[in-house]
Amino acid sequence: MGLGLRAEFAEALLALGPEASGVRWLEVSPENVTGRGGHSVKTFRACAERWPVVTHGLSVNLGGTDPLDASYLASLAEFVREVGSPWHSEHVCFSAVGARELLDLLPIPFTCESLDNTRRRARLVRQALPVPFAVENISWYAQPGARELSEVEFLRELVLGEDLGLLLDVNNVYVNARNHGFDAWDMLSRLPLERVVQLHVAGHRVERLGFRIDTHGEPVCDEVFALLRRTLERVGPVPVLLERDHDIPPLEVLLAEVSRLSKLYQDVCGGAP
Ligand SMILES: [Fe+2]
Repeated sequence: MGLGLRAEFAEALLALGPEASGVRWLEVSPENVTGRGGHSVKTFRACAERWPVVTHGLSVNLGGTDPLDASYLASLAEFVREVGSPWHSEHVCFSAVGARELLDLLPIPFTCESLDNTRRRARLVRQALPVPFAVENISWYAQPGARELSEVEFLRELVLGEDLGLLLDVNNVYVNARNHGFDAWDMLSRLPLERVVQLHVAGHRVERLGFRIDTHGEPVCDEVFALLRRTLERVGPVPVLLERDHDIPPLEVLLAEVSRLSKLYQDVCGGAP
């Protein structure tokens, strides 16, 4: 079972180590390490010596229209190579205009034009990286413009057409399904599951009238646990990562959730998560 590394608990996790914590690998966003000096980089390096690291980016902006930043891609490739990540992932989203980061993962229009744009950019990112490139489905609350493709069609064309891996976020599928009134398993099972390299689970908040906000700030709910079980039964033993980015509880609370996920994984897949 993997855990997204956060500065809030990195030192406490390091003090416990892989065996005592039950955390087998770490997911790291390069943006949270590069460009930061001193203490956090030192802690990250110490963690990277003890755990396998998988990189997960936040700022390539696959759905954007400004040219991709070649120097950023080169530094990303260097970081990925340096930490020995087996693949690198980014979100299928739009996240910047010019030099301005929107600080959110916004949905790409599900149109043929935007699919072509996203495919072209994903191809360039894949070619720039020293390891396989995977893309992650996001949670979204509205769709810009008239839709020409379903989300599944968009993701299938992108992943299969550009020879990408799929980082399947089970919580994002569930949140979208509940908010937009479709069946989560129906959507999930029509994705190119043979391309899944990794799964994400996280917690979300339920608002008034039942609307769901993907906060990464709550425990994983029972419905997402059930969907994860069904997904693992279908895709087999792929690595699972717990994301917790807000309202981070004491480490022991987080590790209890990792332990619950590990038990589910072992129950379904057998061996070590
Ligand atoms: Fe995710």
